[in-house]
Amino acid sequence: MIKIADLHRSFGGQTVLRGVSLSVADKELIAIIGESGGGKSVLLRHLIGLLKPDRGTVQVEGEDITTLTGRKLDRIREKFGVVFQGGALFDSFTVYDNIAFPLKEKTKLPKQEIHERVEEALEDVGLKGMESKYPAEISGGMKKRVALARALITEPKIVLFDEPTTGLDPIMLHAIHKLITDTHRKYGFTGVMISHDIPEIFHVADRIAFLYRGVIELVGTPREIRTSSDPVVRQFIRGSLRGPIEIV
Ligand SMILES: Nc1ncnc2c1ncn2[C@@H]1O[C@H](COP(=O)(O)OP(=O)(O)OP(=O)(O)O)[C@@H](O)[C@H]1O
Ligand SMILES: [Mg+2]
Repeated sequence: MIKIADLHRSFGGQTVLRGVSLSVADKELIAIIGESGGGKSVLLRHLIGLLKPDRGTVQVEGEDITTLTGRKLDRIREKFGVVFQGGALFDSFTVYDNIAFPLKEKTKLPKQEIHERVEEALEDVGLKGMESKYPAEISGGMKKRVALARALITEPKIVLFDEPTTGLDPIMLHAIHKLITDTHRKYGFTGVMISHDIPEIFHVADRIAFLYRGVIELVGTPREIRTSSDPVVRQFIRGSLRGPIEIV
């Protein structure tokens, strides 16, 4: 579904991606883990053409999107639902209108059906009764959940999640993970999820990719990652202060 090949990206003198290659199979849910500031969000932005690489390609269903612009890129983006790290809600829209927005934009569904789907989505993310609030009036965790409901509501083919649970309490974290896996099972989207939820993510993702120093250091099943003998991977998943990863 997605094939990233030899992706390079620098900002000024800072090289962030140094040859990332990763393939995501149809209907697979893959998690990307790695150091804070390591380039995970930068990588994700390349998958929908929000950033262009210095070198390398990103194929979505066989089409290289790195050279696309305008309408052609919009057409590709329609396949995606995205939960951005900061939520990226429309501040002047209520919770209800934020979630309804993609349905109004991308579909011709009658108002009543949009209403039913938005209400169902609100219930799924535990936000019933919050319809008329504005983003400034809800908590950070609630914003995350609104962003998640908005990303899933059109049942997109591919969903990108940038830390969908960061800042949530442990119960809400599990509820959101369950919502993601339930939706994944139900609609069978292809998912790329950036996460710092170790070890919880091992129960959610089909495969885990570890981004380190601008490349994919290791990709494998949760079991393969957990039992890896790579000292960098071992240190990272244990959160140890000692090891090859320098703490700056
Ligand atoms: N538009 C930009 N212009 C310049 N530098 C950028 C830009 N976007 C990201 N960077 C830099 O790229 C590096 C990687 O950032 P990125 O947001 O991808 O990290 P991350 O792995 O998502 O971290 P976190 O886990 O904290 O979210 C950072 O040093 C950041 O400052
Ligand atoms: Mg990030």
